[in-house]
Amino acid sequence: MHHDLHLAPALHHLRPVVAGLEGSLIREVANAGMGRSDVLKFWFGESDAVTPEPVRQAAVASLLAGETFYAHNLGLPELRAEIAAYTARLHPHQGADHWLGRTVVTSGGVNGLMLAAQAVVEAGDEVAVVTPIWPNLVQQARIMGGVITPVPLQVQGGAWVLDMAALQAAVTPATRLLVLNAPNNPTGWTLSRDEQQAILNHCRQTGTWILADEVYERLYYGDSERQAAPSFLDIAEPEDRLVVAHSFSKSFLMTGWRLGWLVVPPSVLEQMGKLVEFNTSCAPVFVQRGAVEALRHEAAITPALVAHLRHCRDTLIDALLQVPGLTVARPLGGMYAFFRVNGHSDSLTLAKRLVTEAGLGLAPGSAFAPEAEGWLRWCFASQHTERLLQGVDRLQAWMRR
Ligand SMILES: Cc1ncc(COP(=O)(O)O)c(C=O)c1O
Repeated sequence: MHHDLHLAPALHHLRPVVAGLEGSLIREVANAGMGRSDVLKFWFGESDAVTPEPVRQAAVASLLAGETFYAHNLGLPELRAEIAAYTARLHPHQGADHWLGRTVVTSGGVNGLMLAAQAVVEAGDEVAVVTPIWPNLVQQARIMGGVITPVPLQVQGGAWVLDMAALQAAVTPATRLLVLNAPNNPTGWTLSRDEQQAILNHCRQTGTWILADEVYERLYYGDSERQAAPSFLDIAEPEDRLVVAHSFSKSFLMTGWRLGWLVVPPSVLEQMGKLVEFNTSCAPVFVQRGAVEALRHEAAITPALVAHLRHCRDTLIDALLQVPGLTVARPLGGMYAFFRVNGHSDSLTLAKRLVTEAGLGLAPGSAFAPEAEGWLRWCFASQHTERLLQGVDRLQAWMRR
């Protein structure tokens, strides 16, 4: 029997928030340069270096040994123990046993961030977000039905800085969650210890959860004595309403592996295990075996990587500072130069023109916040620093036309 139902397009039956999600503006620029081998590509947030071989070998060995089954929700015990030991090396005020009781292995940093949003954000909840920021963090809160209050950073001398009074005014007892990412993608903004303490104190008063995205913790170029940027983990009490997100992507050259972890209050660890079950059930075992090896070789991988990235940063920023007509500052952390080409206010158009007219692939600032309109993001994680200089030459030649 045929029903005479008037069928509207299925799209209208999705949750409006899903239908309304913005596509990635970075992808839009990248699509403009697809199939063009002459474009120097600095638009995505990843290094062009392959994962170190011992890490890849460990994953291969795991597969060959037949480790093809489901595993624990919270992660392999061996991996959780390595993460806990690593966390204790970076944040030694607590021992590995303490961190073990707070560690959740996730399928990429982005999955960890989504789990945190699922755990905390109810439809209609107010979510304050310090911007500019990697767009996924905003969209995840939106997917959960959160209502976003942006807290824009301010530009001072080409660098982006936090207006603490603005943050304190924006985060009220009605604010369920404060989302921040420092060291920051895209601006390189990095929180000081004092700023972290002020934010923590304020959020304790308002009863607001803090979601601190610290995936760039190791990519820190401030105090060379320090192995990592200041972390909320250094100052928070275990039961503060704090979730810290981490990733193997940036510090271990493992973007394609999709592995990360969360540090959560001890009392919510088991609850997070339930959420993992209903999202991914577990991270793939062979991927986790690779990560165990990465952490065991951390001293051979990460410090050299960070030293190289510092060199990349200085090479690129020194060159950009020589170009008349740019606004740019040296970032304290992360792997991006964030800058303005004076006189250009539409960053999507500018980024697309640079691809087609200059052969230079950058990400548009408007992908990260309205106030970053007119800015461009340049990922400087390249094994070949001469490619960075070649890119600056192309930019300068294009600007002179
Ligand atoms: C700020 C920030 N957080 C999290 C991630 C997620 O990394 P992944 O999902 O690869 O672990 C990224 C990746 O670009 C990022 O820039």
